[in-house]
Amino acid sequence: MCGIVGYTGSSSAVPVLLSGLKRLEYRGYDSAGIAVNTGGSLQMVKASGHLEHLMERLKSTPLSGTSGIGHTRWATHGAPTDINAHPHMSNDGQFAVVHNGIIENYAQLREELTENGFQFSSETDTEVIVHLLEYYDQGDPKVAVMKAASRLEGSYALGVVCARFPDTLYTARLSSPLILGVGIGESFFASDVTALVRHTKNVIYMEDGEFACITPRGIEVFDSTGAPIRKTVSRVAWDVEAAEKGGYDHFMLKEIMEQPRALKLTIEPRIRDGRIVLDEFESFRAQLPNIRKVVITACGSAYHAGCVGRYVIEQLCRIPVEAELASELRYRNPIIDSSTLLIVVSQSGETADTIAALKECKARGATVLAVVNVVGSTIAKLADYVLYTWAGPEIAVATTKGYTTQVAVLDLFAVWAAEALGTISAQSCADYVKQLLSLPERAQRAIDLNPGIPALARQYKAADAMFFIGRNIDYAICLEGSLKLKEISYIHSEAYAAGELKHGTIALIDEGRLVVALACQEALFDKMMSNVREVKARGAQVLAAALEGNRRILSQADDVLYIPDTDPLFLAIPEIIPLQLFAYYMARENGCDIDKPKNLAKSVTVE
Ligand code: G6P
Repeated sequence: MCGIVGYTGSSSAVPVLLSGLKRLEYRGYDSAGIAVNTGGSLQMVKASGHLEHLMERLKSTPLSGTSGIGHTRWATHGAPTDINAHPHMSNDGQFAVVHNGIIENYAQLREELTENGFQFSSETDTEVIVHLLEYYDQGDPKVAVMKAASRLEGSYALGVVCARFPDTLYTARLSSPLILGVGIGESFFASDVTALVRHTKNVIYMEDGEFACITPRGIEVFDSTGAPIRKTVSRVAWDVEAAEKGGYDHFMLKEIMEQPRALKLTIEPRIRDGRIVLDEFESFRAQLPNIRKVVITACGSAYHAGCVGRYVIEQLCRIPVEAELASELRYRNPIIDSSTLLIVVSQSGETADTIAALKECKARGATVLAVVNVVGSTIAKLADYVLYTWAGPEIAVATTKGYTTQVAVLDLFAVWAAEALGTISAQSCADYVKQLLSLPERAQRAIDLNPGIPALARQYKAADAMFFIGRNIDYAICLEGSLKLKEISYIHSEAYAAGELKHGTIALIDEGRLVVALACQEALFDKMMSNVREVKARGAQVLAAALEGNRRILSQADDVLYIPDTDPLFLAIPEIIPLQLFAYYMARENGCDIDKPKNLAKSVTVE
């Protein structure tokens, strides 16, 4: 959602801030702004809409200075207007602030500050922070930031500039990501490493309750008592190319094509001498027999990965597995105790509902295993154990490689746990390991087998609604295929368990309605063919997915996507890829903003 960035050094701040904000665009935003210390006074420029509007405005109002802060805002409190955009400035012009997160007690603070004579110009929760800074200012901005932060409830990553200290930035963090960049003669902060890698790969991950003073000469981090903290400088593992389009028209297409490699990086290092080794989780192996239930929780596509995981883990480990949306689980008073293993799945590691569900279940005694892509993220820190998906940075709002690598980790976990529990034989374990190792190649084959997808999209582009149907794991894949289509092409679409057709959806099938029928589970193929016949009889057009070499499908479906032959348990990875491509080309045919779909954010950090 919102993104923040800060720079102090010897270069002109505006281009550095703008390039940082550009890299944060993918998180989703509807206005942007920057403030620069122009040598003793603060000046800011803000604009609603795309960053281009801000850039236009900066042409007529250039800001010169070598330190400043920037923000991309995704409106929560107040419409996406110029005035509500960040930064916000104090009445005396001494402080400007950018903020990610939500200040839950802002209404009380606003009342209190108004009574004390402060003038508010925006409707945002953030503005209380900057007036608190002025209220507590007695000379040292560091002290004012700490005092102001002590009054805030909710979540924040704050970036502050003070007119009197032209080369210093101040930051604070609570439940919202914040990373500091250590350069040579320059320093940075940002809500996301993608905004920093162009300048430095040396970063400091801030923890909750920490503050920092940032100057070109160095960074000091301290705790809520003001005592200095020694922080480790980490090296970001990926480089700037990973966060750029590399010749593709969209990040989404690039990320779809990167899946074979991302899967290889996620799977291969975890297989040694024909066995799965989950280094980060090995110490839990002996406790596995005490687990009575596995609960997988997540939001969006990560939840859909969990739905696949449920089938695979239950089938191989013979333990009951539930997959539940984090936004539901957190309010359900769930039956969870120390015999529950909670698997939390999240690409960003910052999704608000997922974090809340994690905390709720942890408090009830569950052991928490996180499957996360972003190193050092909140979920990674809160969990007892972390298995990282090594997908690299994912920029497109609609996840692709994030999802398939999540499925890969859940598959690895299932085989690993089944071996540890003795629910599969040594021979089947060896066969599954071979299958897992072949998934990157099968992912590539799923791309190569379906060169006709752009033409299919041209043919079907005018569809106004469609249905995805499937059974078992095919149904779990329908959920994700349907979401992919609707989020980027805005075409109404629903995923249905094929066996439920007669309980509702069939009433909506009429002449020309497109039905995407996933029929890759061979054991259920005939059942699926009955469903296909039912919808065909009512005039539907059927785009089917079937295993490579399946000829029976040709007599039933109008068009076919072919999926490389794979063990039925591991089909989700090759099977989703043509559906991702179908969604991509449908959106492209309809002229949609593919990487930044309307109203959506990459990382949903508020409830
Ligand atoms: C947003 C994104 C989705 C993602 C979901 C969960 O809706 O647009 O792509 O699946 O959040 O995000 P997470 O980072 O927890 O996987």
